[in-house]
Amino acid sequence: MTDTIPDHYDLLVRGGTVIDGTRSPRFGADVGVRDGRIVAIGDLSAGTAARTIEAAGRIVAPGFIDSHTHDDGAVLADPQMICKISQGVTTVVTGNCGISIAPLDPDTPRPMPLTLLAAEGPPAPPAFRHFADYMAALRQAPASVNVAPMVGHTTLRVTTMARLDRAATPAEIAAQQDLLTEALEAGAIGISTGTYYPPAAMASMAEVIEVCRPLTGSGAVYVTHMRDEAEGCVDSLNETFEIGRALEVPVVISHHKLHREANFGKSAVTLPLIRAAMACQCVALDCYPYNASSTMLHTEEAKLQGRVRIATSGSHPEQAGRDLADIAAEWGLGLVEAAERLQPASAIYFSMDEGDVRAILAFDETMIGSDGLPIGEKPHPRLWGTFPRVLGHYSRDLGLFPLETAVWKMSGLTAKNFGIARRGTIAVGNHADIVVFDAATVRDTATYDTPCEPAQGVDAVIVNGVLTWWQGAHSGAREGRVLSRGI
Ligand code: ZN
Ligand code: CU
Repeated sequence: MTDTIPDHYDLLVRGGTVIDGTRSPRFGADVGVRDGRIVAIGDLSAGTAARTIEAAGRIVAPGFIDSHTHDDGAVLADPQMICKISQGVTTVVTGNCGISIAPLDPDTPRPMPLTLLAAEGPPAPPAFRHFADYMAALRQAPASVNVAPMVGHTTLRVTTMARLDRAATPAEIAAQQDLLTEALEAGAIGISTGTYYPPAAMASMAEVIEVCRPLTGSGAVYVTHMRDEAEGCVDSLNETFEIGRALEVPVVISHHKLHREANFGKSAVTLPLIRAAMACQCVALDCYPYNASSTMLHTEEAKLQGRVRIATSGSHPEQAGRDLADIAAEWGLGLVEAAERLQPASAIYFSMDEGDVRAILAFDETMIGSDGLPIGEKPHPRLWGTFPRVLGHYSRDLGLFPLETAVWKMSGLTAKNFGIARRGTIAVGNHADIVVFDAATVRDTATYDTPCEPAQGVDAVIVNGVLTWWQGAHSGAREGRVLSRGI
């Protein structure tokens, strides 16, 4: 072995404890990096390095992959991506919940929830008429994180249909198929749907299957914010499985959860159902570690039950961080009227059972995804806190699962499910995406009141071999790549 180990490295992470992202037990080793790759793992004390990171007493893990993001616009507008880098995230999967920033014409109106992809109000985010244009823009102006982009079904609908409150015609379905094919040829890793949301809700299962035909045999995945995460959750799971079988593609259930008190505890039903489906087809799922959700501010009475807190409001930005009920009372309005007046807006909904959140997180194959919305000053704290919260609160403090499992849920498992090659594990030959953290102190500090706070206990974050985050500061490096399918 010794003669194959190079003795000079660009970067040497020395004396740490490696948790390699495969769920194997930790082991002590140095990790040597050269030309952006991991080139050696073991006792490298004989080697020299341009830069050495002392990692004694620290965990050395694969850079985390955020399986569920809405960072499509943020990676261009805010390329340092401190909200993610500071957590140890080195790759973001974009284009979730049916909404992607491309392909969109500049003059196409953007109904909710597409507005979640960029800061509220003007100026509008850039428009990319072709998916390849978005990929090119990212390559030209790289972010600090790698981007694995998906195309959104809602975006395809918005782009091809004059009216969204009806089924797509055969011609519109064909146009959406063409755009999907184009996105796949440009390297999109999958398509996402958000049939829960009004612009996509009128697409039946049959319509979704037809639009997604080009996925079959492509190696790309079908990812879904399901039609119903409340009373109809079981039906929605079955719809998702059926779509996967019809297209013969892997499916990913986004941010699995059970909304509303009437459904508390139903993870005891949904998780065995998911387990059973996994025996016959490829099924994956992700989850964020909080019992409050966040998305557009709804204007239907039924969706405003329970505590609703305003995250952003384009028309009344000063109301961010306040409860809808308080605002409505102050204005002398009902909840629906107040919600209408706050538009365009996003909100935080305290509508889940902590027991379900823990059961879903602890389910073996659940990946970690933040679902963070990078807009406004009072976003849901999951944008900044998801990964350290799983490592600190759920794994270490509550003992929900071992640290090896936590790391796997945010790296190796995710790379496997999304077909992201040579990332997600600490292995010789892999791209050098690495995070160094202190297992004893790592924790989230972002709260609902102060949501934009970086993690504690994350010492170093390396992206494609370049130190990007070190002791609480960004190095300025923007070494992220566009991860297209199969690369
Ligand atoms: Zn969603
Ligand atoms: Cu989402």
